[in-house]
Amino acid sequence: PLMPLTPPALRARAHGRGLAAFNVVHLENAESFRLAAEAAGEPVVLQISQNASRFHGGLAPLALATLEVARRAEVEMVVHLDHADDLDLVAEALELGFGSVMYDGSMLPDEENRSRTAQVARLAHEYGAGVEAELGEVGGKDGVHDPSARTDPADAAQFVADTGVDLLAVAVGSSHAMTERSAALDHDLIARLAATLEVPLVLHGSSGVADADLQAAIRAGMTKVNVSTHLNQVFTGEVRHFLEENLDVVDTRRWMHRGREVGAAEAERLIRLFRDAPHS
Ligand code: G3H
Ligand code: ZN
Repeated sequence: PLMPLTPPALRARAHGRGLAAFNVVHLENAESFRLAAEAAGEPVVLQISQNASRFHGGLAPLALATLEVARRAEVEMVVHLDHADDLDLVAEALELGFGSVMYDGSMLPDEENRSRTAQVARLAHEYGAGVEAELGEVGGKDGVHDPSARTDPADAAQFVADTGVDLLAVAVGSSHAMTERSAALDHDLIARLAATLEVPLVLHGSSGVADADLQAAIRAGMTKVNVSTHLNQVFTGEVRHFLEENLDVVDTRRWMHRGREVGAAEAERLIRLFRDAPHS
């Protein structure tokens, strides 16, 4: 069934586990991640970014399909709006029934980021939904990898108090859209942030981080782990291989099916990796 984000995120934090959050760009991604969540018996966050919504010419078509996939799941699923700076889109997502929204004002001047984030938090809470915000910009969205940004714990605590957000994305050494898993996370900083803040922490750009480092980050206090690029790589790699081997294929379901299957297997592996981090 469909759930708001805050309860499973708080539960994961209380148990020191990671909560997997995977990006949905096409319907088949949502189907993959539902299969993975059911196989692992764990909740999963299906997130649609503002960019993915633009790709489809609007949020509703992909969102309604994703919400329906989530409702039919045998495990708890959250549908979340990822990296939005368009307040109209945030309002639309809440109206459609999303369990949380990320308002990304990390590129705005500090004061404006705080006041807009607080405004989004008030609105989301009226809908019973959660809000994720970002403080300290995690780079890479523009294709330039700069993992040097860091979120200051005292500043973050003030930001959470000023805005009322339920989860906080922090800059601790990752960068978006890396195709090699070579980022080095700052585990000491993650531990200080987790000790200072009561809200669950979110890692963006997790595709650039190796398995062992992701588990160490979760043990240090990271909760929601966002993975997009890596799962795209797995899906596309399988489809490329399949099409090279099967030049006569024309039915799109033949290769979509292959991408969906390998996407589900890798998503399930990650869900278990994040869940088992406290004991690994
Ligand atoms: O918000 C989405 C994530 O931060 C995904 O980043 O594509 O580097 O895994 P990634
Ligand atoms: Zn992100």
